[in-house]
Amino acid sequence: MEIVVSGIRPTGNLHIGNYFGALRNFIKMQNEHQCYFFIADYHSLTTHPTPHDLHGNVKQILAEYLAAGLDPEKSALYVQSDLPETIELYLFFNMNAYVGELERCTSFKEKIRKQPDNVNAGLLTYPTLMAADILIHRASKVPVGKDQEQHLEMTRTFGNRFNRMYQTDYFPEPQAFNFGEELIKIPGLNGSGKMGKSEGEGNAIFLADEPEVIRKKVMRAVTDAGPTEMNQAKPEVIENLFSLLKAVSDSSTISYFDEKYATCQIRYGDLKKQLAEDMIRFTTPLREKINEIKANDAYLHQVAEMGREKAHESAAKTIREVREIIGFKRF
Ligand code: TRP
Repeated sequence: MEIVVSGIRPTGNLHIGNYFGALRNFIKMQNEHQCYFFIADYHSLTTHPTPHDLHGNVKQILAEYLAAGLDPEKSALYVQSDLPETIELYLFFNMNAYVGELERCTSFKEKIRKQPDNVNAGLLTYPTLMAADILIHRASKVPVGKDQEQHLEMTRTFGNRFNRMYQTDYFPEPQAFNFGEELIKIPGLNGSGKMGKSEGEGNAIFLADEPEVIRKKVMRAVTDAGPTEMNQAKPEVIENLFSLLKAVSDSSTISYFDEKYATCQIRYGDLKKQLAEDMIRFTTPLREKINEIKANDAYLHQVAEMGREKAHESAAKTIREVREIIGFKRF
């Protein structure tokens, strides 16, 4: 059994792509490993949210993960700011992180480009905070995608540096973690190969979208002029729509439209109508669950408390031991 840590950004909502991607992995992992999943609200302060937005975003994403199947009994599901031990470890890592290496981090350079008016020290030290998130539980596995590989590499650097400095092997070397099996491909609706919040307006279908919104988005999905030859291969934009159909529709629906395409009789309007209704059928129980959880403050409180307690138990031990290693001793 591995110790697994992953942070969840409290910006934006869960979409169908997340549901079939990261979330599925989390749900499998919670059955097999000791998992710590947290909502990264400290990290989100780099963009200066209002108190109202900050709290609302944390609540929304917590409700969505619960509705989609994260089980607070199985894993520690907590809010990062409920675990201030993280900040102490962050301070320790900051003392041994070099400004130069932080400045060379790709995500920092990107942020400078995107928000030149707000290049704060929190952005520069994002990697040390992320290292603290992971190593506060001495995790060995981190389920993240390629875009986080450099942050993970830096986490290993900071942990190893600490180990070398104090001649210990206290921190493990956490590795990226993904279940081997092929994830279902979830493309976007605007011709983009990937569903994502930042991929443009109308590209993503969110779990919390109302049926009318889903219909509108799907009906506007990008298509082409239609097949001209029998049994021709589908171009990417059309393949994308079929991939979405495969995620939420029955096999008879898929073969029906496949056949229509192969015989040049397909009407994209019909396909989209069917796709929209199947998406709605798929998301409706999730949307209802999300709203039900959001209305249940007692339940949210109970979940957050349970997560906080589990996370605190592991973090308090790490901080105690790290303080000892560093040489902080009680008088
Ligand atoms: N940086 C991650 C992201 O942008 C979020 C994150 C913060 C994280 N701390 C983490 C992920 C620790 C894994 C482990 O998605």
